[in-house]
Amino acid sequence: MGLSLGKNGQYNPDKPTEDRITDIGPRHFWQYFPPAIQKNYGKWDHHEILEPGILVHVSETGDKVFTVRCGGCRFMTVENVREICDIADKYCNGFVRFTTRNNIEFIVDSPEKLEALKNDLLSRKHVSGSYKFPIGGTGAGVTNIVHTQGYIHCHTPATDASSMVKSVMDSLFDYFTGMTLPAQVRVSMACCLNMCGAVHCSDIALLGYHRKPPVIDHEYIDALCELPLVIAACPVGAISPAKTESGKKTVKIKEERCMFCGNCYTMCQAVPLSDKLGDGVTILAGGKLSNRISEPKFSKVVVPWLPNNFPRFPEVVEHVKKIIEAYAANANKYERIGDWAERIGWEKFFEKCGLPFTEHLIDDYRLAYDTFRTSTQFKYTEAAWAVSKSVGGID
Ligand code: HEM
Ligand code: HEM
Ligand code: SF4
Ligand code: SF4
Repeated sequence: MGLSLGKNGQYNPDKPTEDRITDIGPRHFWQYFPPAIQKNYGKWDHHEILEPGILVHVSETGDKVFTVRCGGCRFMTVENVREICDIADKYCNGFVRFTTRNNIEFIVDSPEKLEALKNDLLSRKHVSGSYKFPIGGTGAGVTNIVHTQGYIHCHTPATDASSMVKSVMDSLFDYFTGMTLPAQVRVSMACCLNMCGAVHCSDIALLGYHRKPPVIDHEYIDALCELPLVIAACPVGAISPAKTESGKKTVKIKEERCMFCGNCYTMCQAVPLSDKLGDGVTILAGGKLSNRISEPKFSKVVVPWLPNNFPRFPEVVEHVKKIIEAYAANANKYERIGDWAERIGWEKFFEKCGLPFTEHLIDDYRLAYDTFRTSTQFKYTEAAWAVSKSVGGID
């Protein structure tokens, strides 16, 4: 390996480029493979889900490896990671992996070790009572929620990530430890519409949303920001150059044009827009990434705004449950939420989920025309009438 441990800890601020190690890249994954994975690499024959959270992969060589998948809270202390390492040392010869949805996977090579590992994992709880390593996240259930930084670290959020994810996972816990849905349901979360992560392509997505235009700090904006960048940041051209009465360079924002994306604030800290009462949560549904049967889909806005009701977000939790329960009761086997909604028609989706339809849900950005109905094919539902009413049609 290229990493020279001997030079670590010898940073000399007077000669910052001396002994500098750079461009060494990540460690090669091969050295972290359990021996059974190394040996059978590229030779897997088939796999089975033995029960929620437990998989077995069988190789052409006859070798079997058992995987136990546990929920991870993603945002972890070093103490937490050390506990994971202790478990890996005890049962898995020190090997462990994390999934693309931030679950933790422990791999063992015999059913006996599997039983012992399972019992140990389920016995571990935080002092508050929450499972440290709940087993699940496989098959047609709800697995971990891909999410972002929220108020823990980012400066542009309109809501919090970790607390909302905890609240929603608490309410969906039986779907994490079970496989009772028509297909897997991917829930994801982003605290602003930079959409770091997967909100634009998930079965259900929770998205932080502002409802007020930025406040401009005319005093400092020219000193802090590249004004042309601020102006070019706006997707709807609401920002233009301006001068203050004393002749300072600044910008002005046409408020009726702004749709609160916050992109100008990303470019310029003199136009903040977060707001205690204005900010909240939008829910999207029907996205997917895989190509199974239908093409990948973007998720679509189905709930325009819910309040940031800290710390447990009861309204968000209730709406997510409503959508999942309607989907579970009505969709066919293998249908993802988007497949189901498109088959029955979105007007039926709104009816089945008991969601009101408002004008906020009608696309009005550039290519919006393609999302309108250019057909007489629709079903009579309250939601269909609501669309008509909301655009000033017959009621
Ligand atoms: C597609 C867009 C983006 C993705 C996928 C992304 C992803 C990530 C991930 C995975 C982390 C590490 C989180 C963790 O340690 O748990 C991170 C950290 C961070 N991101 Fe992003 N990010 C994106 C865009 C942005 C943008 C636009 C900003 C700011 C305007 C931003 C600001 C930060 C900051 C401040 C951190 C923390 C860095 C640290 O802990 O040292 N990210 N991002
Ligand atoms: C004359 C050369 C450059 C100028 C004047 C310039 C200017 C800027 C400015 C004004 C920003 C925005 C800062 C902010 O958001 O507050 C920025 C961001 C950034 N620039 Fe440059 N830049 C230059 C060259 C480069 C080059 C060569 C790279 C990379 C190879 C680079 C990478 C970045 C990155 C990664 C960001 C952060 C983007 C983000 O936070 O979302 N820049 N640059
Ligand atoms: S989604 Fe927005 S607020 Fe959340 S971490 Fe990403 S940039 Fe920050
Ligand atoms: S918040 Fe978005 S829409 Fe509003 S002025 Fe800034 S960039 Fe434009």
